[in-house]
Amino acid sequence: MSASPHLTVVNHPLVQHKLTLMREKGTSTAVFRQLLREISQFLAYEVTRDLPLETKHIETPVQAMDAPTLAGRKLALISILRAGNGLLDGMLELIPSARVGFVGLYRDEETLQPVQYYFKVPEHMDDRMVIAVDPMLATGNSSVAAIDLLKKSGAKNICFLCLLAAPEGVARMKEAHPDVPIVTASVDSHLNDNGYIVPGLGDAGDRMFGTK
Ligand code: URA
Repeated sequence: MSASPHLTVVNHPLVQHKLTLMREKGTSTAVFRQLLREISQFLAYEVTRDLPLETKHIETPVQAMDAPTLAGRKLALISILRAGNGLLDGMLELIPSARVGFVGLYRDEETLQPVQYYFKVPEHMDDRMVIAVDPMLATGNSSVAAIDLLKKSGAKNICFLCLLAAPEGVARMKEAHPDVPIVTASVDSHLNDNGYIVPGLGDAGDRMFGTK
C-alpha cells in the first residue's frame, strides 16, 4: 500500500492482477463485473481500516472476555450513479449492516456542469462514516459535486473510494475537498481529450452493464 494523508493506492498483488484483467478490452461483461466486486472488497478493507472500536463483554466456550466490536452508527455507502453500483454489492457483503444512499448527476451539455437528478441518503449523515463510491475518478467534476451534496446533507466524515483515478481528478478533489481521503487501486497517466482515463479501462458503466 502506498499512502499519503489524502491518497491511498492499494497496490496489493491480487488487486493489481485483477485490475489488469479488468483493463483488457477482451474481458467479458460477466468477468468484469465479478472482478469489480472482488476488488471492491479489498478497497473496502483498506478504507475501513481506522473505524473506531469499542469493547463488548462476551463469553466464548472457554471463558469470558472483553472483545472488540465496531463502535458508533452504521456507516453509509453512497453510490454515485450509475457506475458506483458496481462497487456496492461486494462492499455490502463485507459490511452487511451499512446503510446505502445514491447520488445521480448528469452533465449539462451547455454549461458542462454536473446537475443533480437524484439524491437519497440515510438519516443522521453527520454521525456516520460516509464512503462515496465511483469506479472512475476522471476530471473530478462529478465527484466534487457529489461530495458537495453529501456535505450539505450533514456528512462530516467522508472518504472517496474508486477503482482508477486520473492525476487531474485527484488534484481537483484535493483542492475542493482536502478533508476527504481517496482510496484507489491505481493512479493512471492522464485524461485524454474525451475525458477518458489513460490507459484506463474504457467506460466503466458500459463495461459492467454491457451497454453500448
Ligand atoms: N468514466 C469512465 O467510465 N471511464 C473513464 O475513463 C473516465 C470516466
